[in-house]
Amino acid sequence: MVTPVRKAVIPAAGLGTRFLPATKAQPKEMIPLVDKPAIQYVVEEAVEAGITDILIITSPSKRALEDHFDRNPELEEILKRKGKTDELQQVRDITDLATFHFTRQGAPLGLGHAVLQAERHIGDEAFAVLLPDEIMVDRGEPLTKMIETHVETRSSVVGLREVSMTEISSYGCPAVEQQGDDGVVKISAIVEKPPMDEAPSNLAVMGRYVFTPDLFRYLHDVRPGVGGEIQLTDAMAQLATSSGLLGRVIDAGSYDAGQKLDYLRATVELGLQHDELGADFAVMLKEIVGRAT
Ligand code: G1P
Repeated sequence: MVTPVRKAVIPAAGLGTRFLPATKAQPKEMIPLVDKPAIQYVVEEAVEAGITDILIITSPSKRALEDHFDRNPELEEILKRKGKTDELQQVRDITDLATFHFTRQGAPLGLGHAVLQAERHIGDEAFAVLLPDEIMVDRGEPLTKMIETHVETRSSVVGLREVSMTEISSYGCPAVEQQGDDGVVKISAIVEKPPMDEAPSNLAVMGRYVFTPDLFRYLHDVRPGVGGEIQLTDAMAQLATSSGLLGRVIDAGSYDAGQKLDYLRATVELGLQHDELGADFAVMLKEIVGRAT
């Protein structure tokens, strides 16, 4: 019987330079979208897909991430005393989402190096990786489908999305061999951020992965690649030619919360979906847009 995927790794050690000055003194993952920090959406997505154990890879300026997923007895005591039971429950629920672990990357040597820090914690089982800049519109559904593909095939599976060729040089890009009806493709090769005229397809690696633990073997051998960094994609290229790598083309939207314009889009869309605020926010938004046009 195949073990279901229960552990996830969230690399969150990056400096967030695309979002300065907001990220000068706080982690980019803690910037709120409506009323929750961005990383909480990603954690909730993982939990919806069945993940129960989450390892967050951090760097020295990321203490707030640990505090957010830890208990805060002082705050809980104050909320209890003031009879703010809903708020108390919300604060406690964050800690109960999963079992949280944290480890530091040590040096900013690239995404592949960040994921390698998870080796001992993961041990000998399949695991998911979620890049926290991307917030999935369909929450846990895409990752759930990728895990299903892994359970059926025992292969590593990467989430893919069609993009226009002008965007492809911002992403990992695979050469794919066959496509089934369910959006599953066999990856024969994969390159990180290829120039448009060298890209093997119009499929982009989105920030969701399910890996078999042999990924770590290849990560150890990866030499600095694009941008002088140890690239996760370069270890995936080794997986593709050895134990196998599948892609699952995900027809779902996402927000790039690390990018200012897309962050605004996410705030508006998530605000409109919000149970308590959505209706009032829609009225307010119409009024503001009416005034501006
Ligand atoms: C990373 C990965 C890239 C992937 C992208 C998805 O790049 O290296 O393969 O396509 O995330 O967002 P980054 O955006 O960190 O430069």
